[in-house]
This record gives sequence, structure tokens and C-alpha cells, in this order.
Amino acid sequence: MKSFASRIIRWQRHHGRHTLPWQTSRNPYPIWLSEIMLQQTQVATVIPYFVRFVARFPDLPSLAAAHEDEVLALWSGLGYYSRARNLHAAARTIVAQGGDFPASPGAIAQLPGVGRSTAAAIAALAFGQPCAILDGNVKRVLARHAGIAGWPGHKQTEAALWQLAESYLPHTAIEAYTQGMMDLGALVCTRSQPACATCPVNTDCIAHTQHRTAELPAPRPKKTLPEKQVQMLLLFDRGELMLEKRPSHGIWGGLWSLPELAFDADPAIHCRNRFGFTALTQQVLPQLSHSFTHFKLHIRPVRLQLMPRHTDSPGQAWLPLADVLDAALPAPVRKLVTQLDGN
Ligand code: ADE
Repeated sequence: MKSFASRIIRWQRHHGRHTLPWQTSRNPYPIWLSEIMLQQTQVATVIPYFVRFVARFPDLPSLAAAHEDEVLALWSGLGYYSRARNLHAAARTIVAQGGDFPASPGAIAQLPGVGRSTAAAIAALAFGQPCAILDGNVKRVLARHAGIAGWPGHKQTEAALWQLAESYLPHTAIEAYTQGMMDLGALVCTRSQPACATCPVNTDCIAHTQHRTAELPAPRPKKTLPEKQVQMLLLFDRGELMLEKRPSHGIWGGLWSLPELAFDADPAIHCRNRFGFTALTQQVLPQLSHSFTHFKLHIRPVRLQLMPRHTDSPGQAWLPLADVLDAALPAPVRKLVTQLDGN
């Protein structure tokens, strides 16, 4: 039987993806940008964001020179905005150090927002370096093929998967192999209902031959997250909604969000005490929940119609509802605004 890698490479050449917008060159800048955008987001979602981003910031110097708000605005809707802040900071660092994108996986991994697998993907795809990647898709492919039990997020399981990934590396065609592993995970070895019949490595795949694709890889162990409750104010004045810029560090750092108050506080009184605004009407909207890694947040949105006000404070923006979705919003705020009347 041909080696694991040579079967992947051959499959990639015939059935893999070759026309994604970041596959047009070996320029590390667009490859880096695409890998960052693809970290928590699907290809189909990323494509239009990627195209807009490189149109506005075609190279490292243009990104380094940008204002952070414009970078965040181009990221608006992709979520996980720390990726955009890290990207911007990394561009500034690289440009300040002479402008050459680092070429070794170790140096690439020093960039903020770039872990071992992302660094390896960039080193392999842009510089042809023989580096193993291990993103979520590749973990699934390897765990199934080798029949590795255990949740891949668990340290020991992850270490076993890294070792396997390293041991399969080919001596040539690292780009096709790397892309092939990503493509196989995304197109064939999918989480549910994998298309094993078309898989180039099905004959020696433990999960396939033992009918265990539904069990492998093992799911994340369930843990109950602590829960927090908060109210969020939708303050409306003459058709405009108020957003507040969050401090640059902490949850939703630098994003435009809604004013928050304790779950048991009175919205209208809070509004007067904190902002000096008078509420004319008040409407409690359906609650929504948002899961972070470490806790679950329950949000009670309260819509207040204000007496026309006369002052604007720094860190506040009043936007017509139609423009609010162009701002860098936290995911639940985006969802909330999308569901409002008038949208
Ligand atoms: N996911 C992460 N990196 C990718 C890439 N280069 N192509 C397709 N999907 C990906």
C-alpha cells in the first residue's frame, strides 16, 4: 500500500481545493491572513471577508499603518475580534522589524494569535517547510484513521496526535499534503456522516473498518459552566441606538457594545443616574444566552425610548439602526440588533 501521505497528496491533486482566494500565490501575508480568519470560521464565511480585507489592506505595510477601528470594522461579523487585534499588532511588529515575514515555524509562532498549528500551516503553505499541522479537522482525520480514543483537546491525546502528524509528513509536496489534510477533514472526513467511500485512506482507517466513525474522535467532556446574568440597554433616541466602546482589554475588548447593568437594577433609574437620560417607554425583550469558554451569560435586553438628549460623551456612538451592524459588535449584541423591529 502507498504511504498515508502519498495517498493524501494524490487525492488533493484530483479532488482537493485549488481555487480558494488565498491559494493564488505563496505570498505569506494573504496566507497568514487566511489562516487567522479560518481559525474559528468556515471557508464559505471567510471568503468575502478575506477578499474585502486584502482589497483594503493589500500588504503588511498598509495593515500596519491602519487605525485599529478600521481593521475591526472590516472584521465586523466574523467574531473573535482578538484575532483582528493580534493581526494588526503583528503587522506593526513585523514592519517595525524590517518588514520581512518570518519564515520558520518557530519564528511565525511568536506572532500574537499564532499557535503551533497555524504557524506550521503558514510555514508549509508559504515557505514549503516540512511542518505538521493539527487543527480541528486534522485531529478528526488522524484520530479516526489511527483509532485514537480520548478527547483531542486532552493533553495526552493531543500529544499522541501531534506525534502521529509528525510521523506522516512527506519529504516532498508538503503544500499539497497540508492542504490535502485540511481538505479531507472539511470535505470527506466530516464530523457527521463522513464520506468514507471516497476517502483515499479508508482501507487502513480504524474508525471506518471498525464502524466507529460516530464514536471517534471522542467529544469534549461535558462540564457545567457557571452562569451570569446581565441586563443590556437598547437606548433609542430619534431612531438612533447608543453603543459604547468597551475597554481594550477583557471580554469583547475594543468592541462596540450596549450599556450593561445588574440583573436586578431598574433600567430607567440606571439610565438617569449613569447618563442623565430620561426614559419615556420601556420594553423588556426576550432573553438570550451566550456561551463563553468559562461561563454562560444570560442577557435580558431592555429597550428604552428616550426624551431627546443633547449631550454625547466620548466612547459613545449614536447610530441609525441601519448602520449599527457595520460596527464591530459582540456576537450576542449583533444577534439582538438583527432581531429588532426595523431590521
Ligand atoms: N482551514 C484552515 N486553513 C485552511 C486552508 N488553507 N484552506 C482551507 N481551509 C482551511
